[in-house]
Amino acid sequence: MRWRLAAVLVGFTALVLLVQNIPLASYLRTVERNSIITALQRDAFTIAGFSVAALAVPAPTPQASLEKVVDDYSKKNGARVVVVDKQGIAIASSEGRDGEDYNNRPEIKAALDATAVSGTRPSQKLGEDLIYVAVPVRAGDKILGAVRLTFPQSEVDATVNGRVRGLGIAALITLMSAAVIAFFLASTITRRIRRLRDAAEKIAEGDMDARADVSGGGEIEELAESFNTMADRVQAVVESQRGFAGDASHQLRTPLTALRLRLDRAADLMDVDEPAMDQVDAARDEIDRLQRLIDGLLVLARADNQDHETVPVDVSAVAAERIEDWQALAGERDVSIELMGRGMAVALAVPGAVEQIVDNYVDNALEVVPEGSRILVTVRTEPSGVVLTVDDQGPGLAPESRDRAFDRFWRGSQDGSGSGLGLAIVASLAHAGGGTVWLEESPQGGLRAAARFRTQPSTAAAREAPSHRR
Ligand SMILES: Nc1ncnc2c1ncn2[C@@H]1O[C@H](COP(=O)(O)OP(=O)(O)O)[C@@H](O)[C@H]1O
Ligand SMILES: [Mg+2]
Repeated sequence: MRWRLAAVLVGFTALVLLVQNIPLASYLRTVERNSIITALQRDAFTIAGFSVAALAVPAPTPQASLEKVVDDYSKKNGARVVVVDKQGIAIASSEGRDGEDYNNRPEIKAALDATAVSGTRPSQKLGEDLIYVAVPVRAGDKILGAVRLTFPQSEVDATVNGRVRGLGIAALITLMSAAVIAFFLASTITRRIRRLRDAAEKIAEGDMDARADVSGGGEIEELAESFNTMADRVQAVVESQRGFAGDASHQLRTPLTALRLRLDRAADLMDVDEPAMDQVDAARDEIDRLQRLIDGLLVLARADNQDHETVPVDVSAVAAERIEDWQALAGERDVSIELMGRGMAVALAVPGAVEQIVDNYVDNALEVVPEGSRILVTVRTEPSGVVLTVDDQGPGLAPESRDRAFDRFWRGSQDGSGSGLGLAIVASLAHAGGGTVWLEESPQGGLRAAARFRTQPSTAAAREAPSHRR
């Protein structure tokens, strides 16, 4: 995120520099060329002034003083100079080409026709472009000859390139500064957003007291404020709901116990063969079911309200102890319960959680397994935590129902005595300690109910656990 933001800022700066510098470079080239032409023109007129005396005589001959002016100028400015008479024959030349006929050169012709010209043309002799300036030499309105100055385009290019290079270096420095600034800017923004995200994650993990840091100004501060307001509201709603579930379950217990006692009394007063007796018995069964439901709801409410304080628990020892208690009931149904993986397997869990998870998993398995089958409980320590599994040889559960089975009141079938709260309690207790729970197909043929408990106190471990299915 930070790098992407910085890259966008730098890319944008690069684009601006490119859009700005390309026309600037071409503009520089034009300016440089024009300024050279102007200077050459001015110089050409000056040399033309010097040439008047030499050209004024009827048959002009090369003159030492003009030759010196031409040579000096050429040496000083790097331009080539040629002075021709009105027939186009050179009488002075910085290249020592006196007497040569220049009449076939279009710019000389133009100058002899009283027009000062300038421009660029390729020179076959030098194999490169030349900037030229040609002006007439006049005495009054008589044309005596012409002066031509030429300058290699490559030198203009070199000057311009030097300036463009300077421009490029400036652009590079700008770009690097932009990169540094963009990086810092992006870091600050992403750091603040990350802090906000951390607060949101803490709340999602159940730490309802977590709040975002409100500082730094701007939209992010406003966002943090809105976030905190929302968190306050959510916390209030969650707390009142939890309180309600707990209070309601608790309040229902007393009248229910009274109802049960009254029904027992009624049954005592009745004759065993009285037809109403069946109805009373059915009502007592319903009350028992209601009682279990309310007990489950109370356990759930407590698990949700718990401080999520974890203690080290030897999962292996707890499983062994619980299985011991279940053996009698399992024996009645000719079902064996075996524990695999003896030895310590210490994990962190909220007090009582491991017991309840084992109880619920074994209870569910016993509910569905056929007679003579086997329930296998395993406990093993993995890098990501302690994993407890309960495998049965029952009918299993369709994949699309496995997640839903952890929902409150969800039941695979309406017969039996269940309340649909067992697995919801399991999930709630496991999550309270930072653990995870899931159902999958068992290699034994039935269902595997599993739980993973943290071994590290950090919440990050739970978040990174690979099988984060619930
Ligand atoms: N070992 C299992 N094999 C098959 N189905 C299961 C098993 N354990 C749980 N289930 C299904 O998940 C549902 C929810 O289980 P639970 O929350 O414990 O509620 P209850 O046991 O009260 O019905 C059960 O009704 C059952 O359909
Ligand atoms: Mg159950």
